[in-house]
Amino acid sequence: MQISPSILSADFANLQRELDAVANADWAHVDVMDNHFVPNLTLGLPVVEALLRVSPIPIDCHLMIADPDRWAPAYAEAGAGSVTFHVEAAADPKRLARQLRAAGARSGMALKPATPWAPYAELLPDLDMVLVMTVEPGFGGQSFLADQLPKVAQVRESVRRQGGQIWVQVDGGVSASTIEACAEAGADVFVAGSAVYGAASAADAVDQLRALAARHRH
Ligand code: DX5
Ligand code: ZN
Repeated sequence: MQISPSILSADFANLQRELDAVANADWAHVDVMDNHFVPNLTLGLPVVEALLRVSPIPIDCHLMIADPDRWAPAYAEAGAGSVTFHVEAAADPKRLARQLRAAGARSGMALKPATPWAPYAELLPDLDMVLVMTVEPGFGGQSFLADQLPKVAQVRESVRRQGGQIWVQVDGGVSASTIEACAEAGADVFVAGSAVYGAASAADAVDQLRALAARHRH
């Protein structure tokens, strides 16, 4: 059970300090948004490169961008431990997933809430992680979409059949009150932005979330 705090809810003027505050987490989740795939703009490769130089933990890049076939491999080449693209935006997801692995990253593929899993299950051999979005991508602090839990369970079942070390990540509205349902459905990597950086102690929030998820180990 791994926790990946999203720095989207951190203080952007002090990102090194904010990464240090969650050094007990498994990953630092970095949301790259391009104002095309989602209606919000955050940061890109130069900032990710700077974060990689100072982060005490590996970086989990969530690319909410158009044309990931063109842009995603550079994040892997820069040293991100995990790079996740959106399948809705990818022209050739299989080829892209292989490229990410070849560049040394874990390959992740994300699904928006309206995107079904079944048509993409055949991509699993080339993936290290599937991200089931539990909010509409674009902003932190939104309400958890419980109707995505059946999809989490479907992905978990496909992963179980496939075998290997493929992780199932949830992102959006994950908090102390929703993480257990996610874990029970089959998630094992949990992104949390506002629930971590909105807490009095970010590190304590990470530990608390991990302990809640661990009650539902599968
Ligand atoms: C939303 C981002 C999330 C966001 C989650 O599009 O992908 O990573 O930071 O924020 P919370 O945990 O506040 O819903
Ligand atoms: Zn994200």
